[in-house]
Amino acid sequence: MTKKSAIDFDKLFLKGHKSYDTAIGDWWEGQASNGAHRKSHLAVAEHVADRLKRAGKQPRWLVDYGCGSGLFLTVLANRFPKARIVALDGSRKMLDRAAVRLALAGHDFGSVEPKDSFAARGPRVRLVKTPLPNFSLPAGKADAVIFLFPNLTPAPGDQKYYDKHGYKNRDDVKLCKVLARLREMDPEDETAKPDPEGMFDGLMTDRVISRNLRSLCKKGGACFKVDYANAHRDELSPLTHMRSLFVEGAMAEDWKGLKSEVFFRYVGNKFWRSQVILDVYHQTKDESDKTGGYFVSEFLAV
Ligand SMILES: C[S@@+](CC[C@H](N)C(=O)[O-])C[C@H]1O[C@@H](n2cnc3c(N)ncnc32)[C@H](O)[C@@H]1O
Repeated sequence: MTKKSAIDFDKLFLKGHKSYDTAIGDWWEGQASNGAHRKSHLAVAEHVADRLKRAGKQPRWLVDYGCGSGLFLTVLANRFPKARIVALDGSRKMLDRAAVRLALAGHDFGSVEPKDSFAARGPRVRLVKTPLPNFSLPAGKADAVIFLFPNLTPAPGDQKYYDKHGYKNRDDVKLCKVLARLREMDPEDETAKPDPEGMFDGLMTDRVISRNLRSLCKKGGACFKVDYANAHRDELSPLTHMRSLFVEGAMAEDWKGLKSEVFFRYVGNKFWRSQVILDVYHQTKDESDKTGGYFVSEFLAV
């Protein structure tokens, strides 16, 4: 039987980048250190290494975007002993735990200021405390950015920032409004329930985060996004797939005369069945979130 959590996620997430300094951080530590997560960390690091090797790339700079308590970060540092790694997160509690993990694993690491994330001098693994997204981080430096099990929580006061970096783009807003208004054909589907405003905000917010991932990448750099999933990405409905590509800045074709800026090229996807999906169930209490796993979507920065 799955143990349900008594944490009031909705209330604590209002703390934005500090939300993981609360009981959510302790809950996450329990989840991220279980067997399913440990397996996923190894699988994702191996997948990233394999994809970069196939592309003939030897990464000098990697970014772990929202690194949490450093469980995946440590695996990444082991798997890429020659790369420098910038680990970004907004939570002091998570970063302190990551520091302990890196020390125990014997890595050269240290805390650096956001502006020095990619400085030539400094430790091999850099822990950077920053709210995300953050467009003032040095741009265009990373060979690969990895965003694993994303759950960025904007605080209510962050809206102005999202407006500045997303909502001011008229083409995006026009296309997004249409994508948000469309409804899934399947009446059983939760997303078929009309909530165009909520859908619009969700899509626009996630697109701003994708823009931030892109801004960190070199041109031609890779981005690996690891999402919870109930099924293979190929099984998504055409509408959900289109919404995903919009969010990811990878919607290459115009749609009904509407277009949006393309900043990533979608390369492909791999799905793993896994109990990590229970992280989602703990928050939604939705039975359909008891089965599934995660997939890794790969993009190239254009
Ligand atoms: C679900 S955890 C994932 C951590 C890590 N990627 C992993 O898989 O173990 C989400 C992480 O994002 C961080 N985070 C959430 N919202 C944030 C924000 N607005 N700014 C910066 N970090 C944030 C949290 O502190 C937390 O460490």
